[in-house]
Amino acid sequence: MENLKGLILSGGAGTRLRPITHTSAKQLVPVANKPVLFYGIEALVEAGVEDIGIIIAPETGDEIQTAAGDGSQFGARITYIPQEAPLGLAHAVLTAEEFLQDGPFVMYLGDNLLRDGITDLVNAFRESGPDALILLTRVPDPEHYGVAELNDERVVRLIEKPPEPPSDLALVGVYMFGPVIFDAAKAIEPSGRGELEITDAIQWLIDSGRSVASRTVTGWWKDTGQLDDMLEANRLVLEDIERQVEGELIDSKVEGRVVVQDGARLERAVVRGPAIIGAGSRITDAYIGPYTSIDANVTVERAEVEHSILLSGSSVTDLDSRMEASLLGKNVTLCRGATLPKTLRMIVGDNAEIKIP
Ligand code: G1P
Repeated sequence: MENLKGLILSGGAGTRLRPITHTSAKQLVPVANKPVLFYGIEALVEAGVEDIGIIIAPETGDEIQTAAGDGSQFGARITYIPQEAPLGLAHAVLTAEEFLQDGPFVMYLGDNLLRDGITDLVNAFRESGPDALILLTRVPDPEHYGVAELNDERVVRLIEKPPEPPSDLALVGVYMFGPVIFDAAKAIEPSGRGELEITDAIQWLIDSGRSVASRTVTGWWKDTGQLDDMLEANRLVLEDIERQVEGELIDSKVEGRVVVQDGARLERAVVRGPAIIGAGSRITDAYIGPYTSIDANVTVERAEVEHSILLSGSSVTDLDSRMEASLLGKNVTLCRGATLPKTLRMIVGDNAEIKIP
């Protein structure tokens, strides 16, 4: 199977990450200072899939194209495929029919992260060539995902977000398909949420006696569609980083696995890893705690930040209580008003300015 293509879905409204997604694509929110989407592109390239189509939405397509470009920065060739409306994952497959040209492909949801990549899975698909290969993992809340019911090793039923899940095996957002998936996507009807569900298309394959294989994912998997999952993905990725201090340290303490990128400046600061501080950022009289990703050109002054993601251009100053489990969008200004609550926890959109009373 030589000409295996990749299809990354990077449309979708990202409603569960509002207000960040009012102005930005959820797939471009950085995890350890790298957009979520880039992890997916890299995983495909590592698995030898270099011809990649990216499904984009009208609202965020330009931003995605600007970020990922023609793919050369990843060693890939990227073709952008506009999807006019978010009508479901199976609809996205049909939208990409011309690009995929009746060949086998790997479909990767652009907000998904897999620690161990997909190389083994893609190799398994290349070797056995089933009509579909799906990935499963056990989750505590299967009602939020597509759920699989197995009989021994065989997939017998797939249901999208069932209120009463028959198992705790969730469908991970990476799928491998042969061309018969186009027939399936054309045969099914929209679901209750008005979308052509890929889960229903795979069920159609099962019902038509086609070969649907499954594999369980090793290593962690995260769908970063919600704040807590995004923070958790950030924590997990930071767990694997190596210490690398290239920025300037003035009377500062940097403990453990911390990346301080070139051009960052720490002054009378304490950074306790794992954490990353982006280029051009200024951390002054401040504490940065574990599991924090500070993107480029961020200012933190007389404040404490832990287990949070701060996007580029933001500034956090004069906080008396520690900021925790928070996600700040781009160019957010957060500073102290007259009185303070004990803890701060917030999800803030781009260009917001917050003064705490
Ligand atoms: C989609 C799929 C679901 C799958 C999930 C994985 O859900 O419909 O079957 O388990 O991705 O991330 P969505 O995120 O579109 O609600």
